[in-house]
Amino acid sequence: MLPTTLLAFALSLHSISALSLQRRAVEFYDPAAVGGSMVDSTGNGLGEPLNVIISGLSSPAALTDSGIVNYAQAIGYSKECLGLHSGAPQTANLGDGNGWTDQLLELRADYHSTAVGTCLESVVGGNHFRVWRQNGSLADSGALFLAVSKEKSFIAHHSPIADGYDIGRDELVQAALGTKSHGGVTYSTVARNVSGLIAPGAEGINHGIAQDGVVTVLTVTIVG
Ligand SMILES: *[C@@H]1O[C@H](CO)[C@@H](O)[C@H](O)[C@H]1NC(C)=O
Ligand SMILES: *[C@@H]1O[C@H](CO)[C@@H](O)[C@H](O)[C@H]1NC(C)=O
Repeated sequence: MLPTTLLAFALSLHSISALSLQRRAVEFYDPAAVGGSMVDSTGNGLGEPLNVIISGLSSPAALTDSGIVNYAQAIGYSKECLGLHSGAPQTANLGDGNGWTDQLLELRADYHSTAVGTCLESVVGGNHFRVWRQNGSLADSGALFLAVSKEKSFIAHHSPIADGYDIGRDELVQAALGTKSHGGVTYSTVARNVSGLIAPGAEGINHGIAQDGVVTVLTVTIVG
């Protein structure tokens, strides 16, 4: 896009969101359209792919801070094991005008035990994800962007396994699809894949681990 076109685009988005009281109903906005990136920052010039999006068309209650934690628990994840945090927060720029912001949450596979499972995951390794929300005034979709990876153990400094970005994404999606319940809420989840948001390969990707460039968009509907 030409700079003037981009500016006009940004201004039109801005005035739309300033005028409307309600968030616009869209799945998500491509962060790259307004200066963001579908790769987060690990602080070393590289990053992890934002390889799963929870669509802005999901039930609003599933997209709140407590809503995403309950949904994560329904599909087999929990908040991090106390005291075994795996390192500094990562940042992402979702092109919504908020710039590079710290991850909102980090959740880990809990091995079917919400109380102690994430501690096990922290020690033996497994699947985990970080979450950001696209809610700045330039792209207020309300969608959640997830960086998912399957990693080695705490002792191995939590680096992803070979192919750990694609495998992590696919395992999370498999666990999420269909009907799942937790905390008295029942969710129905459908998925579709989007290509073209992230270039396939290892360029710019942390640990030099190649990924296939596929982003899976989940739409989560609360059905009971
Ligand atoms: C946008 O989301 C962030 C967390 O990602 C939150 O801290 C902030 O309050 C939200 N902003 C609005 C306007 O809801
Ligand atoms: C998305 O792509 C992955 C990787 O190719 C594949 O395993 C998965 O089945 C696809 N999911 C859908 C919903 O097409």
